[in-house]
Amino acid sequence: MYTTDLSGKKAKPEAAITENPAKLAAFEARVAADEFIEPKDWMPEAYRKTLIRQISQHAHSEIVGMLPEGNWITRAPNLRRKAILLAKVQDEAGHGLYLYCAAETLGVSRDEMTEALLSGKAKYSTIFNYPTLTWADIGAIGWLVDGAAIMNQVPLQRTSYGPYARAMVRICKEESFHQRQGYEIMMHLAAGTDAQKRMAQDALDRWWWPSLMMFGPPDDKSPNTEQSMRWRIKRDTNDELRQKFVDITAPQAEAIGLSVPDPALKWNETRGAYDFGDVDWEEFYAVVRGEGPVAKERNQARVKAWENGAWVREAARVHAEKRANAKIAAE
Ligand SMILES: [Fe+2]
Ligand SMILES: [Fe+2]
Repeated sequence: MYTTDLSGKKAKPEAAITENPAKLAAFEARVAADEFIEPKDWMPEAYRKTLIRQISQHAHSEIVGMLPEGNWITRAPNLRRKAILLAKVQDEAGHGLYLYCAAETLGVSRDEMTEALLSGKAKYSTIFNYPTLTWADIGAIGWLVDGAAIMNQVPLQRTSYGPYARAMVRICKEESFHQRQGYEIMMHLAAGTDAQKRMAQDALDRWWWPSLMMFGPPDDKSPNTEQSMRWRIKRDTNDELRQKFVDITAPQAEAIGLSVPDPALKWNETRGAYDFGDVDWEEFYAVVRGEGPVAKERNQARVKAWENGAWVREAARVHAEKRANAKIAAE
């Protein structure tokens, strides 16, 4: 769901300089011509490393992103809502798998990525370290969080690394469904009883600002943006995407009679865009550091899932071994 580089580490500038200059120039010319770079093609080490970090963070976010919503599958208000939510959460597992596979083409193993997630070394989207307190949160997540994911991911269909770009095509189609199902939940609640409307407003109040944080730090504090834009790993800056999100989402809130919790939000005729208040970046960095409200629970849930899955991995290994032996015996 999330694609902004959270490492905060600046890619070493000398990394690009020590590469073979002729190869680097040829690579940059291909990227500038909007050609896709494929796994077997030559690429600068810094490009490979940035992509591994970004794609694996993205994959982890899809997988951890299943937890806040999975929490509501058994408590969905009716069978129809349950079936929709189940399908949505399964889609997120699929997104995680496509992305782990895309990252593997860059030479990192699935085990290394899993280990980085479980040990807490790897980052994932800050948004999933907030709790889902009511059913309206499921609406708010689909509408805002998947909505923000679409904003991030649509341009990534043209990112320079082929396997990542192709994974995005299918993911984006599914994200549109996720966004619609969330908005539809909010629409119904907002048109319901006073208590339902209050619940919808409360969810919007809690999820609005964390959703704006999903686009990552402001451009002047995003150390890797410039390089990533030049190599077309990113196609838009964090602030550009955040603005786009506000411009699309604010009228959607108004259309269903909910108010965005930002007194500074105002249409700016001259800019043709909304002005909006400052994000609390202290809170963002605290969550990135692992201090989010339910960060520990999220990690524990992943560790437990991994441990509980040990017998499946073992069974798959033994089955593969048996088949391989049977094949040798038949030859
Ligand atoms: Fe997703
Ligand atoms: Fe999604």
